Amino acid sequence: MRVIPFDASLGAEIADIDLASDLDAGTIKKLNDYWAEHLVLCIRGQNLSPQDFIKVGRIFGDPFRQIYGQFNHPDYPEIGLLTHKDSDIAGSGKRKIRGTSWHTDASYFKKPPAGTMLFAITVPNEGGDTEFLSMRAAYKALSEEHKVKLCDLRSIHVYESSRSPRKLIKRSPGQVKEFGEQAKHPIVRTHPKNGQKSIYLNPIRVEKIDGLSRQISDVVLDDLYEHLFQSKFQYRHKWRVGDFLIWDNRGVLHQANDDYDWRNEQRELYRIMVKGERPF
Ligand code: SIN
Repeated sequence: MRVIPFDASLGAEIADIDLASDLDAGTIKKLNDYWAEHLVLCIRGQNLSPQDFIKVGRIFGDPFRQIYGQFNHPDYPEIGLLTHKDSDIAGSGKRKIRGTSWHTDASYFKKPPAGTMLFAITVPNEGGDTEFLSMRAAYKALSEEHKVKLCDLRSIHVYESSRSPRKLIKRSPGQVKEFGEQAKHPIVRTHPKNGQKSIYLNPIRVEKIDGLSRQISDVVLDDLYEHLFQSKFQYRHKWRVGDFLIWDNRGVLHQANDDYDWRNEQRELYRIMVKGERPF
């Protein structure tokens, strides 16, 4: 197994490993260590059946229940499907591609998923990349004074923030009831494995900073997002069929791109999330 860090502030490719083989405990530990260190791992050229993908998912943690049952794999509900023809079934019914602005997954849960994995089944020739942004590198780049100002702040995460740059797909009343409404999380989040800190914010879900007036909260959030969105913290992944990719929701924002010729080209990825701890 070789580790080839990306030429970016996060991420690494892991080469010379077949995820469908029986991996020993030492290899599994190394993969988890690399994941904590690099935040995004890509393993190319994999040949995974749905059962293999589920097995690989469990290397990184216990499965986090899929939030939108309508996108589940028909035979393997532990797997969600992302496709070029997804639609907002509980809302307008129109085609709607999820994830097309910076976000971290399901942060309105008290214990949001630690990680998300994708496996590329079909990808367009051009476009459909996924972008990643290191909230860890962004934290490191803050001045010491700024870090101290942020260290005791918490933000309120809801399903869809009134500040969200895009409309999210609608949830059915059952999903709202089942999965709850909001959580408060620290703005400076510590990684449980290596103690590294990240800015933990979510542009689609953070409504406000707890205890601040709306006006001051908006100013602080706008300022932090301007810092976060700098290109020096970003990496853009161009998909190939057979790519397995995992990211750490505790230290990474990601966004999908709906910029491909979806009438003529297909994009289909399997998706699994794994459970995480209460942010601290
Ligand atoms: C997501 O999980 O937000 C979607 C990522 C993608 O389709 O590129």
